[in-house]
Amino acid sequence: MIRIGVVGAGVIGQLRAQTIHQHPQTELVGVADPDIDRARSAVATSGGQAFSEWEQLLKCDGLEAIVVSSPVQFHEEAVIGALQAGLHVLCEKPLANSVEACRRMLAAARESGQILAVGFNHRYYPAVSYVRSVIAEGRIGTLDHLRVFGGHDGLANFRADWQYQGALSGGGAMMDVGIHMTDLAYHLLGDITEVYGISSGRVWNVPGSEDNAMALFKSSSGVSAIYQATWTEWKGYRFWIEAYGDRGMVRGYYAPMFNLLVTSDRPGGRRKRMMKFYPEIILREKLKSWTSTALQSFQEELKDLLRLIAGNQDVVLADGIAGLRAVEVAHAVYQSTQEGQPIQIRDPF
Ligand SMILES: NC(=O)c1ccc[n+]([C@@H]2O[C@H](COP(=O)([O-])OP(=O)(O)OC[C@H]3O[C@@H](n4cnc5c(N)ncnc54)[C@H](O)[C@@H]3O)[C@@H](O)[C@H]2O)c1
Repeated sequence: MIRIGVVGAGVIGQLRAQTIHQHPQTELVGVADPDIDRARSAVATSGGQAFSEWEQLLKCDGLEAIVVSSPVQFHEEAVIGALQAGLHVLCEKPLANSVEACRRMLAAARESGQILAVGFNHRYYPAVSYVRSVIAEGRIGTLDHLRVFGGHDGLANFRADWQYQGALSGGGAMMDVGIHMTDLAYHLLGDITEVYGISSGRVWNVPGSEDNAMALFKSSSGVSAIYQATWTEWKGYRFWIEAYGDRGMVRGYYAPMFNLLVTSDRPGGRRKRMMKFYPEIILREKLKSWTSTALQSFQEELKDLLRLIAGNQDVVLADGIAGLRAVEVAHAVYQSTQEGQPIQIRDPF
């Protein structure tokens, strides 16, 4: 049994606690939240303890790992505290609200030798896994470029101020829905080495929080991506990732979840078109909301964390460097907007 705790018992923390309690090889030791009622509700059926401070949780006997799902501005203290206490950590996205904080967290992970993983759970969405396997199997030929998009219709989507105020969250659309899309580009392309982009905040006018960002990413593999993160997607929440090769293209879309695959035997040749739908997910979300899909992805993420703890490196789970990169890319877009230049991203260490 791996004994795991959760820091932060809001919407995501409750799901994380449930995931740990339900997995046969993990035990939910406790949950910490300054709102003790939330912590109590997260352990109500698991037998774990409720704490009002994360420091108390870290003192639990035999604790091996924690999941950090507090507001972004509080990630760093709990992540570094846990790493220094010799625990593994899975931290929600974005890893932190500044590049410097991410670097400090990575340094603490290196020093402790413990795992620092980041909750980029969209990697586990079936439509995204499908895109990844189509590329890997060469079904669209040689990969040429990606198009990634993530958006929703802005401020009505937030339940708390920290979720959209740049001073707390670290930024706007790019640090919110866009952070997953940056990570998916990184996940599929490899390291992002150069960024050219424009961010703007003319619609919602929240200081420090862009409502739109458009950018070009160059990767170490030479393949590029075109990216948009937005809070002015008036049609509502959606994201997609499209990969274009010299023999076709594949699209992973959410919500609703589906894939489109177009293939041909040569550039411009006769096209074969295939759609893949996920009716069970669409139906389940109608009954139980989007959180049921997030829950499934958290279950996959937890399995990967257990594999990593057991020494198996063959996982989809995002590591601390992926967490740092996603924040760095957002900051590179801010810098590029000010300077009108492409920005190089330096080695993580
Ligand atoms: N992976 C995803 O798809 C996804 C989706 C939404 C949010 N998130 C991330 O999950 C995290 C939590 O988001 P949420 O939507 O559950 O937020 P929330 O506002 O619902 O919950 C946050 C909880 O943290 C508690 N808290 C406040 N200060 C704390 C501290 N210092 N230590 C511990 N807990 C503290 C609050 O009392 C609250 O219960 C954030 O990092 C957010 O970016 C991830």
